[in-house]
Amino acid sequence: MSNAIEIQNFSYRYPDGTSALSDINLAVEHGLRVALIGPNGAGKSTLLLAMAGFIKGAGKVSIDGLEVNRKNLKEVRRRIGCCLENPDDQLFMPTLFDDIAFGPLNLGLSPEQVRGCVAEALATVGLAEMAEKAPHHLSAGQKRGAAVATILAMSPKIITLDEPDGSLDPRHRKNLVRLLAGLSQTLVIATCNMNLAAVVADRVVLMDSGMIIADGDVQKIMSDSKLMAEHGLEVPQKFSDSN
Ligand SMILES: Nc1ncnc2c1ncn2[C@@H]1O[C@H](COP(=O)(O)OP(=O)(O)OP(=O)(O)O)[C@@H](O)[C@H]1O
Ligand SMILES: [Mg+2]
Repeated sequence: MSNAIEIQNFSYRYPDGTSALSDINLAVEHGLRVALIGPNGAGKSTLLLAMAGFIKGAGKVSIDGLEVNRKNLKEVRRRIGCCLENPDDQLFMPTLFDDIAFGPLNLGLSPEQVRGCVAEALATVGLAEMAEKAPHHLSAGQKRGAAVATILAMSPKIITLDEPDGSLDPRHRKNLVRLLAGLSQTLVIATCNMNLAAVVADRVVLMDSGMIIADGDVQKIMSDSKLMAEHGLEVPQKFSDSN
C-alpha cells in the first residue's frame, strides 16, 4: 500500500527569492500522527502547503499514492484537508453553517447529509450553538475551532493542521488534544507548542532553515535538550524530568 504522504527531493523558493524548503524527503504511513516542529521560519507552513498542492516546487509530492499535480489536484484535495495557519483564510461565508457546509456540498452530498456532517463537525469542536453566527464575529479561539470543523466535515483521509492551538485557552487546548488524539486520520500538525507535539504525536519531524534536521521517535528527539536548544526549541514538560 502507498504511504499517506510521500515527498521526494522537494525544494521550494518563494517568488521573492526566499529559499523555504531544500531537498525535503519524507514518508508518512497511514494513520500516523506526525508533529512538525521547528522555529519560526523553519518551513513548516510551506511544507504543509506543498502537501496539498498550494505551491509547486522542484521534486515530487504524492498523497495517498496520487502524485500532486494539476491533473490530480481535485482528487488530492479530497484526500487531504488542510487547516491553514490563519483561520480567516478558511472562513468566508455569511454564516458558520455555510462555511462548514461548503466542502461537503462541493463533494456532492445531499442537503440532508450535509446538515448531518455540519452538525457533527460543529459538535466535535464545541461550536454546535454557533451555526448561524457570522464567522467574522467569532472569537479568535472559536475561529480556530471553526476552521478545524470545515476540514472535519469533509472527512479527508489525511489532515494537516498549521498551529491548531493558536489563540486557544487552556480548556480548549485540552479539548483540541482530545479531539486530535481521537481522530483516526493521518495527521500532520505543524506547531511551535512542544507540549502539544509531545502529547499528540507518534512521530516528530524537526525542521530548521528549510531542511529536515531530525525525524523519528518523539521522546528521543524531544528529550534531547541540546538538539532542541540548537534549534530554538524547548524540551516539553512531558520529557523535562528525564534530563
Ligand atoms: N509568501 C512568502 N513570500 C516570501 N517568503 C515567504 C513567504 N512565506 C514564507 N516565506 C519565508 O519562507 C520561510 C519559511 O516560512 P514558513 O512560513 O514556512 O515557516 P514556519 O516554519 O511555518 O514558521 P512559523 O513558525 O513562524 O509559522 C521563511 O524564511 C519565510 O520568511
Ligand atoms: Mg508557520
